[in-house]
Amino acid sequence: MKERYPWKKEYDIGIEEINNQHKKMLAIINRLYNESEKTNVSKEFIADIITELEDYADYHFSTEEYNFMKYDYKGAKQHILIHRQFKRKIAIFKEEYKKNNDILTEVITFTKNWLIHHILHEDMKYAPYLKTDKTNKQQD
Ligand SMILES: [Fe+2]
Repeated sequence: MKERYPWKKEYDIGIEEINNQHKKMLAIINRLYNESEKTNVSKEFIADIITELEDYADYHFSTEEYNFMKYDYKGAKQHILIHRQFKRKIAIFKEEYKKNNDILTEVITFTKNWLIHHILHEDMKYAPYLKTDKTNKQQD
């Protein structure tokens, strides 16, 4: 099946482990979209996918943040803050969805836009530093 939000070459940050995690996150969002298009899907089933996205984002952010420490990335503090804001937003969406089914479209659009923007504008900033070793450390 053709994906609603396909992976594009421009999302490649040059680090395979991180790319694979980004692909997996996008795949969960695509699954959420596909399920949202069906007529007889249970609310619990959708809620479980939102939780899966939340859990996977958590795992993925931990990978990135571990690498920020490992490579002493100078932009870590700001980047971690953005991760925290996303996690808070998902937690709010989860609560909202319990009360209001209509929010699902917003959940999908927001998470898709957020992920793509985050890859292109934030993850691209750390990519060169995580690809080099300690001897090529960024200038203070
Ligand atoms: Fe990130």
